[in-house]
Amino acid sequence: MSASSLPESGAVPGRVAQRHDLRSADSVTGLPPSMRTVHAMKSRMETTEIVVGLDIGTTKVCAVVGEVDADGITILGVGNVPCRGLRKGVVSNIDWTVRSISEAIEAAQTMAGVEIRTVYAGVAGSHIRCHGSDGVAAISGGEVTRLDVERVLEGARAIPVDADRQILHVLPREFTVDNQDGIRDPVGMSGVRLGTKVNLITAATSCVQNVVRCAERCGLTVADVVLEPVASAESVLSEDEKEIGVALIDVGGGTTDLLLYVDGGIAHASVIPAGGNNVTADIAAGLRTPMGEAERLKRNFGCALGRMVGDDEEIEVPGVGGHPPRRTARRVLSDIIEPRVEEIFAVIRKRIEDTGLLEQLSAGAVLTGGGVLMEGMTEFAEEILGMPVRLGVPVGVRGITQLVAGPQYATGVGLVQYGANALAQARALTPVPPEVTRIDARRDRIVKEPRRELQEEMRIETKSGGRFWSWLRAAF
Ligand SMILES: Nc1ncnc2c1ncn2[C@@H]1O[C@H](COP(=O)(O)OP(=O)(O)OP(=O)(O)O)[C@@H](O)[C@H]1O
Ligand SMILES: [Mg+2]
Repeated sequence: MSASSLPESGAVPGRVAQRHDLRSADSVTGLPPSMRTVHAMKSRMETTEIVVGLDIGTTKVCAVVGEVDADGITILGVGNVPCRGLRKGVVSNIDWTVRSISEAIEAAQTMAGVEIRTVYAGVAGSHIRCHGSDGVAAISGGEVTRLDVERVLEGARAIPVDADRQILHVLPREFTVDNQDGIRDPVGMSGVRLGTKVNLITAATSCVQNVVRCAERCGLTVADVVLEPVASAESVLSEDEKEIGVALIDVGGGTTDLLLYVDGGIAHASVIPAGGNNVTADIAAGLRTPMGEAERLKRNFGCALGRMVGDDEEIEVPGVGGHPPRRTARRVLSDIIEPRVEEIFAVIRKRIEDTGLLEQLSAGAVLTGGGVLMEGMTEFAEEILGMPVRLGVPVGVRGITQLVAGPQYATGVGLVQYGANALAQARALTPVPPEVTRIDARRDRIVKEPRRELQEEMRIETKSGGRFWSWLRAAF
């Protein structure tokens, strides 16, 4: 549908991004998005859903609208607006951030022809921490159910957390049933004791709340707050890479995010407070040029590896404070960029070494985020990290993919995929009562409907107000 055919608000009546409170869904299912596949739930999906990812980055806010159906995700609209309200991945000016979110949402609504009410929002910043934990629970009926999994994960998350911090994700690394370990999905297995080893991702509560507050000031409901590299991983990593071990490195404007996958599960997450903006600031200082010009020079002529630049290449550098422009060797620009990029990758290398998981990253590293668009980034990363490196761009979606093809859209698209997987998982938990078949005499066709006594049973259970049922009511 073209934007011109839309009503003034940009929204199409009747097409509304639905409300899904999946913060509680996570605690119900306990399964990370990597263990929730849209395709596994295909048979249960009869309608389409609109899922919106809101990437509030240091340099831009990007809203991505996806339509989810049984065949996967179709990107319907994108709103991408510069943002100056964050410093190093953390909201530092609410008003500026709110303005950018509003503009991005408005643009995405207009393009997609849907009214956006609910979003999956990203969060990052050096306040993110990763902690190991474990839990044990009795298996109630001799066979592991989703509720047993929920109980054991609830136990694993019961560790002391500072009053000003909150748990963002509970990421199971493995389950054990009695003495058998290394289990990825224990549901349906027989035993008496269920154990789990998890990684808990925690974040400063104030930073998470500021993201939620900014979205709410734009009239949005936040279905879930997702660690940005967790979202990026959804869009750029393959299941094979996750399985054999991979490092995801998202070089953004204000932060560089690191996520390690080992044996199919997230083994480490951390955020480094440096990114492409530091490179720009170095260029501005080193070449004595305004920040805007430094950014332009970086994008047009920047190269992370000095030796990849020819000796005879020249660039024109605009002066600052009324000084005239001057010509200089492009190599000089690279000589400014190279040490900063080297520093960022050296810190990443050290973080990986400190986890003790370096040898387990058989698939090497995948670079994403806008910062890796600079020439020479993958080559330089390979040298410093000492492993194969590839560029990661969003995959696994259809529709207007050309608008989200670059690595700077990995988080926005990944948030939609995360949301779609969370919805599919929630749908899998919805009880489907056995059907009875009757003949609708008026329309002369067969009608299938839940057995009346089962409908009644479900109604009574729902009334009982358990956490599971209240979550189900909120989600659907
Ligand atoms: N062609 C390019 N060459 C070099 N750098 C680029 C290019 N395009 C974008 N960048 C850089 O990418 C960075 C922005 O990347 P991205 O959009 O992923 O960041 P962000 O999500 O806004 O920030 P963060 O994730 O750190 O909060 C900026 O520093 C920008 O200068
Ligand atoms: Mg980002």
